[in-house]
Amino acid sequence: MKTRVYLIFLISFGLFACKNVSIEEINARKQVNPEPNIPLECYTDTGIVKKGKAEANPCYVCHTKANTPYVNELEDMGLTLVYSFPEDIVERGNPWLNAVNPDLAIGNIPEPYTGERTGWRAFRWKPFPGFFPTNGRIDSTFIRLPENFRKKEGITDWEIYKKNLAILECAIKGKVPGEICQGTEVGDITVPTHYEGDAKNIPVITFQYPPGTEFAHPVYYLDPLNTLSFKSLRLREMRYMKKIAYAPVREGEEEEESTSFWDNGMVFNRSGFWLMVGFIEDEKGNLRPQSREEMKFCIGCHGGVGGTVDGTYTFWRKIPGILGWKDQDYNLSDTSIKDYSYYEISCDKISYLQVGEVIKKALQTHCNKYGYPPGEYLLYFALTKGGDHFRSNAEILSRISTDPTKISILERENIITNRSFINFLNPDGTVKASLFIPSEKRAYEINKQYYRVVKAQAFVFGRDLFGKPFGLSQGGNSIEKLKGLNYTGVFESALWVRLRTLLR
Ligand code: HEC
Ligand code: HEC
Repeated sequence: MKTRVYLIFLISFGLFACKNVSIEEINARKQVNPEPNIPLECYTDTGIVKKGKAEANPCYVCHTKANTPYVNELEDMGLTLVYSFPEDIVERGNPWLNAVNPDLAIGNIPEPYTGERTGWRAFRWKPFPGFFPTNGRIDSTFIRLPENFRKKEGITDWEIYKKNLAILECAIKGKVPGEICQGTEVGDITVPTHYEGDAKNIPVITFQYPPGTEFAHPVYYLDPLNTLSFKSLRLREMRYMKKIAYAPVREGEEEEESTSFWDNGMVFNRSGFWLMVGFIEDEKGNLRPQSREEMKFCIGCHGGVGGTVDGTYTFWRKIPGILGWKDQDYNLSDTSIKDYSYYEISCDKISYLQVGEVIKKALQTHCNKYGYPPGEYLLYFALTKGGDHFRSNAEILSRISTDPTKISILERENIITNRSFINFLNPDGTVKASLFIPSEKRAYEINKQYYRVVKAQAFVFGRDLFGKPFGLSQGGNSIEKLKGLNYTGVFESALWVRLRTLLR
């Protein structure tokens, strides 16, 4: 079996290792993954395959109670309970071969990039659970609002722009017009009904970006020599989104539409209210538009799950106020990222939470002992029995806990019920940079694995790579064969969660 997978892998790489391929040629290739919108995260064994019983639920951060009432978010908690993959995928098995069975490779060559002042602003956010540099990806995010948000009576006005961004931040975090929003870059504000300056006709809509909002999201190599941010100068990818129109309110169960539009690397997100663009390295390291199949990878996570806000992951998680208007540095130079807790988990309402018994008990114990609810990461680590979606990052375990055997919520004593096991927080509640950042050795291993994929232009087999393969057959937790799978066991182990993932 192992040999067969390996053979397919080699043949596939052979096919992709040609020189100077054009985007047309890449598009014309046979599709290897019928469902690139279903990411690697979904193929994780909860423990049910290997051990007959779920010991981890890494699914709830995406598939949960919808964060907003709009069609960009779905009520999809059910996906955490059953491995209900589409037939075409079940037949083939896990298509993300680069993660379950990668190989050896070479290093990376940095080259500089430049920028200019155009209304783009970098911001820092609390990384989405598991999406940490130590798990293979390091990034920055920039936001830009349309020109009328940056002008007053036709003249550029950066103070108006700051105010408009502050209003947007409050609205995206859930504030409604009339509510007080504290500690923004321009002080405490009452959320107005409309934006200001030349955007005065644009209404403020809670949980919605105004059409024309843009995000730029560069993804870098890991650079241990850069002690300020750990980011390389060389880009792995440039990702981009632009809001096209307001998303309507969701009505019951949404039918998935199949989006076939692709134009030179542009697609629509799953729900159709964002334009998405992706550039990725060609085999020489120049950025090229992504093919149809490569772009289909983007659409599901943005606009096809419950755990986003308006199809996005970062801005609603922005570090509040002025501390958050800086490039993401994962607390390497500024320690302002804290383990904020979920809005829905408050100590006086634990009994009403829609979560399994194991979780309820642990939360109650935490509340009784400490008087406040556990943080988002604390719960995520306890539920995933580690610091990544695949329980495949061994290095992070001792960074999470002083006793790595006490991370899982299924342990009688664990990081939630006894905070003395916690190692990832500073005494003031901020997150240690060592949680996010890998060791030098791990960083170079990840870069090498990734660079091999660049050389082979084999992104359709997956971009998320660790130093070591983590398919079940390799001793890891990523399921390869999907036939006959049924329940994830998450319900039976009382590890289920149905929760808005908004932060307070
Ligand atoms: C990083 C976010 C994320 C995580 C974590 C995640 N998923 Fe998914 N899942 C997705 C996305 C995105 C899709 C595709 C949605 C779309 O195309 O509209 C998906 C699709 C699925 C599907 C296919 C649904 C269908 O009808 O095609 C199943 C089954 C699934 N996920 C199960 C799981 C399970 C089980 C876990 C945990 C082991 C999990 N997912 C973890 C994002 C995630
Ligand atoms: C597995 C789920 C997943 C897939 C697939 C995915 N993204 Fe994302 N995206 C995220 C997460 C999570 C973040 C935030 C990262 C963090 O917290 O460090 C993000 C951030 C972004 C942002 C910044 C705006 C925001 O807050 O959402 C853009 C733009 C973006 N992604 C575009 C893309 C494009 C283009 C693709 C396809 C090449 C893509 N994404 C594929 C999960 C995904």
